[in-house]
Amino acid sequence: MSGFAIDLRSDTVTRPDREMRRAMANAEVGDDVFGEDPTVIRLEAASAGATGHESALFVPSGTMANEIALHVHAPRGSEVICEAESHVFHYERGGMAALSGLMPRPLEGERGLLSAAQVEAVVAPDVIYRAPTGVVTLENTAMSAGGLAAGPEPQLEVAEVCRRHRIPLHLDGGRVFNAAAALQVEVEELTHFFDSVMFSLSKGLGAPVGSMLCGSRGFIAAARRVRKLFGGGMRQVGILAAAGLIALERGAASLVADHVQAKRLAEALAQMPGIRIDPTGVETNMVVVEVDGEVDGEAEGKGAPAERLVEALAERRVLAVTLDRKRVRFVTHRDVGPEAIGEAIDRIRGHLS
Ligand SMILES: Cc1ncc(COP(=O)(O)O)c(C=O)c1O
Repeated sequence: MSGFAIDLRSDTVTRPDREMRRAMANAEVGDDVFGEDPTVIRLEAASAGATGHESALFVPSGTMANEIALHVHAPRGSEVICEAESHVFHYERGGMAALSGLMPRPLEGERGLLSAAQVEAVVAPDVIYRAPTGVVTLENTAMSAGGLAAGPEPQLEVAEVCRRHRIPLHLDGGRVFNAAAALQVEVEELTHFFDSVMFSLSKGLGAPVGSMLCGSRGFIAAARRVRKLFGGGMRQVGILAAAGLIALERGAASLVADHVQAKRLAEALAQMPGIRIDPTGVETNMVVVEVDGEVDGEAEGKGAPAERLVEALAERRVLAVTLDRKRVRFVTHRDVGPEAIGEAIDRIRGHLS
């Protein structure tokens, strides 16, 4: 079927716009491994300021930032308390084990969120046979829970448990700017009480590459060494940081429009047959639907319901991804405006009805 592709697979597909490309072309640069790239230095200072931390580090990807944080915080052989569908557990190729000798202790959260009581219950006692608890990691927005925006209170309670047990607390804030936009709070309110915070410039904020890792001066000094260990030391990377600075300046305010479109898409999908979604649960830029149908279709070679829907929509040039065999995810972002969302709704309706 013809028609332009409407790519709702992820907000990572956003392309740098003209303003970003101009800033990249004109960026002042130096060798960042020597700490001499002025544009990176500006971006790191601005990122630390935005999250309420002392210092920050520019990193090629969110995955690397998370893995560096775990490596710095947790001794080899210790446990990482995390949510069972969190990115750090589910989508990073077992990096914590492969790179840092860490053992995940995944817990099933309520809509992607871990409670203080859950964490408290699995902190390892100081006995000879137990792996110690090395770090706790939370996620905001919670991707697998459909982009849920967590307010500070439940996470502050987890922070209090961690403080009492002297366990570091990391935030995978790949989309914490979306959370701040949805909750109408400053990013800092959601991030200042963590020992380290990762946020992505390359998702809804629209930069082509890069995430920031933020924390204390001591933590970031250690993280800089681990970034080199993991092969993430870059040279004249101010070219990328220049785009990152624009993303950061645009900030949470630039994401509100994506949330409006996600809500609109969810409300339209809720009216369509064959899928289920509660649009009141859509808080940020993700729309996750459950697809009707038997999972055992796979035995007949037809694939699971979610895969069948994604394939059928791809034929109509609407791109989405499966989260599992029953769930399909659509993500709105700055490169798909209101008109294209309207067109996507029409095409999806055309398939389902
Ligand atoms: C919640 C979350 N954390 C971390 C990442 C990893 O970011 P990257 O793709 O830059 O490695 C992603 C990627 O989509 C994500 O959704």
